Amino acid sequence: MESKAAKPEMTPFSKHVLKMHGSSTLKAAQVATRLREEGHDVIDLTVGEPDFDTPQFIKDYATEGLEKGITKYTPTAGLKTFKESIADFYAKVFGSTFSPAEVAAACGGKQALFNAVNTIVDEGEEVLIPKPYWVTFPEIVNFAGGVNVFIDTEETDFVLTAEEVRSRITDKTKLLIINSPNNPTGRVIPSDEMVKIIEVCAENDVYVLADECYLLFVYPPGEVFTSAAVPDELRKYVCVAGSFSKTYAMTGWRIGYTIAGEGWTRQMTKLQSHSASHPTSFVQYACARALEDTERSTAAVRSMLEEYEKRRDYLIPELQKIEGFKVEMPEGAFYAFVDVRDLLGDRYQSSADFAAGLLGSKFVATTDGAGFGADGFVRFSYATSMENLKRAISKVREFVAE
Ligand SMILES: Cc1ncc(COP(=O)(O)O)c(C=O)c1O
Repeated sequence: MESKAAKPEMTPFSKHVLKMHGSSTLKAAQVATRLREEGHDVIDLTVGEPDFDTPQFIKDYATEGLEKGITKYTPTAGLKTFKESIADFYAKVFGSTFSPAEVAAACGGKQALFNAVNTIVDEGEEVLIPKPYWVTFPEIVNFAGGVNVFIDTEETDFVLTAEEVRSRITDKTKLLIINSPNNPTGRVIPSDEMVKIIEVCAENDVYVLADECYLLFVYPPGEVFTSAAVPDELRKYVCVAGSFSKTYAMTGWRIGYTIAGEGWTRQMTKLQSHSASHPTSFVQYACARALEDTERSTAAVRSMLEEYEKRRDYLIPELQKIEGFKVEMPEGAFYAFVDVRDLLGDRYQSSADFAAGLLGSKFVATTDGAGFGADGFVRFSYATSMENLKRAISKVREFVAE
C-alpha cells in the first residue's frame, strides 16, 4: 500500500496548524531580500527590527556569563537572577509590587504570547483583538482553538477605548489582547484608558494579555505605562508579555518574559517545559546584569529613542505632504501606518497592489496593511537610517505622482 506520507498534499496535518497562516510581515521582508539578492537597490521599510546593534555592555555581560560557565540548562522559568532583575527593574521604574515567582523567561515576546494564549483559551472561547492587530495574535488564537473577535478602532483613531471593549464582551469572552505602543499603528493608549480597559475586563472575568514589546518606546511627552503596575486586584487578570528584542536591539538573542499571577505562570512554565525549555542560559544572565545596570541600560534606550524620534519627526510630515496619503503622528514604536485608500481605484485596487507597485517600480519595500486586518493601509517602518528614509521619500513621491 502506498504510504500517506508519499504524497505531501495528502498528509493529514493537524487541524490546529492548518488553521494558521504564515507570517505576512516576514513574507514581505523576504521578497525585499530576494530583490536585493538579484542586485536591486532595495530600500527596506518592512523591518520590525532595530537597525542598531546590541549595546556593547550587554554583549560583554553575555561573554562574562559564558566565562562563568553559565552554559547549562536553567530552570524552565529562568535563572533566579533573571526573574529577580525583572521584578526589581519594574519596581524601580514603575513602582510595581510583583514577585520573581510571577516572572517566567521565554524565547522572545512571541513565545511569551504563545504560552499565555495557550494556557488560558479553550476551544470555542472568544478572544477580543483590537484592529489593526499584530499579525501573530489571531494566528495563536486559531492554534489554541479560540474564536477571534475583532474590535475596529478606526473611529477612535486606532486607540482602543474601555467602552468599546465593554460593548464587545459576551459570556464566551475569555481574553483581550492589547498592544500599546502598537504595531502597526504606533499609537499609544493613554494610561488612564488602559486602567479603565483592565477594570472593564476584570469586572467581567475577562483576562488581559498586554503585549508590551515596545514598552519603553514612547516619545515625549507621552508616558510609559505597564499593566504590570496596576493594583493587585486587577493584576490577577493580567499577563504582560515583555521582550528585550526591540528595547535593547536584541532581536536575534530570542529573549522575553511573562509577568502574571503565580497560577498562570505555573501553567505557562509547564507548557514551555515541553517545548523550548527556556531561553539561552548566558543570554538570561546578560539581560539580568543589563537590567541591574539601570544607568547604562536606561542610557542605551534613551539614545535609541532619540534617534527614532528624529526619524519620526522627519518621516511623518513628509508622508503627510504626499497627496492622497493620510497618516497620524505615532506616539510610540517605530511605524507609520498610512491610509492610501484615496489613491486606490483603476491602477491599484488594494493596498497590496499599491505596496507591490511601489516595490516593483521603485524598489521601496513596505508592508501591506491587510495582514494587520487593515486593508487600504500601508506600514512604513522607520527602524532604518535617515539616509534611507530620505531616499525612500523621494521615490514614494515619484511613484504617487506617476
Ligand atoms: C507587537 C509585537 N509583539 C511581539 C513581537 C515579538 O517580538 P520578539 O519575539 O522578538 O520578542 C513583535 C515583533 O515584531 C511585535 O511587533
